[in-house]
Amino acid sequence: MSKTYTTINLRKEQTTTWITLDRPDKLNAINATMLQELSEALTIIEKDANVRCAIITGEGEKAFSAGADITELRKLTQKTAAEFSRKGQQVFSKLEVLSKPVVAAINGYALGGGLELALACDFRLASDNAELGFPEMKLGIIPGWGGTQRLAWTVGAAEAKRLIMLGDRVKAEEAYKMGLVDKVVSMGKMEAETEALAQRLGEYPPTALKYAKRAINSVTKSVLESGLKKETDLFARLFSTKETKERIEAFGSRETKKKETAKSE
Ligand code: COA
Repeated sequence: MSKTYTTINLRKEQTTTWITLDRPDKLNAINATMLQELSEALTIIEKDANVRCAIITGEGEKAFSAGADITELRKLTQKTAAEFSRKGQQVFSKLEVLSKPVVAAINGYALGGGLELALACDFRLASDNAELGFPEMKLGIIPGWGGTQRLAWTVGAAEAKRLIMLGDRVKAEEAYKMGLVDKVVSMGKMEAETEALAQRLGEYPPTALKYAKRAINSVTKSVLESGLKKETDLFARLFSTKETKERIEAFGSRETKKKETAKSE
């Protein structure tokens, strides 16, 4: 019997499995259920010998994912924030070490946790309307699901500081120039281009691909492990500060304001 999910969709196309983040009304924001379901989907993909490649994308044309669900950040304390960080890191590390190649098909916004998810993939294609960035600083926090580490390894410390410390959001072309994505594709061609890449990967011997991935990942393995611990510690500490609480709350009040406006119309 196939598993039913509430926040993602799993679709098998020959030797490729598509994982679609499926909360389009919330720009595919990643909540605890989605993290859990992603983890379960990865276990299934890992075990299925017929699957040669996985693709992750977001439902709709607006967002891959606008990041961690901010409504879940509101109730965090220093202690629970550390658990929140570790949980996301574990799922994204599970993705990173999957024995099969994983492609992120970034169809629109990839912000915060959405970009952290994409950074844990092996390949990143971006639609021409994509915008990537880390808005965490505006909430008084730092990325806590591996973003501080994987971004710096992917584009270098200077660009990582610009994106994380200044909160600069980059469009697809700029992301390509800085090495954050491998290719920019028009939205209409995203599915076909991603499939074609998966197809190419699927033609190589799985064991050779698996070993190539493992060998390359070993470049960062030990530093990444200690960096992730540091990131969790620093992320969690911010949840004991007043500024952080206030800024996270402010996102909520913007939502409330919009709902009130809608009601009065
Ligand atoms: N967590 C929870 N909900 C989110 C979300 C997130 N990260 N990002 C977007 N949403 C929700 C919005 O609250 C809104 O829900 P509502 O219709 O029930 O009010 C819905 O998704 C659509 O978003 P909206 O803000 O109306 O779209 P927009 O086109 O005006 O703006 C963004 C798009 C991405 C710029 C904006 O949604 C945003 O800044 N999101 C937060 C990004 C962020 O800070 N991510 C990092 C979190 S650590």
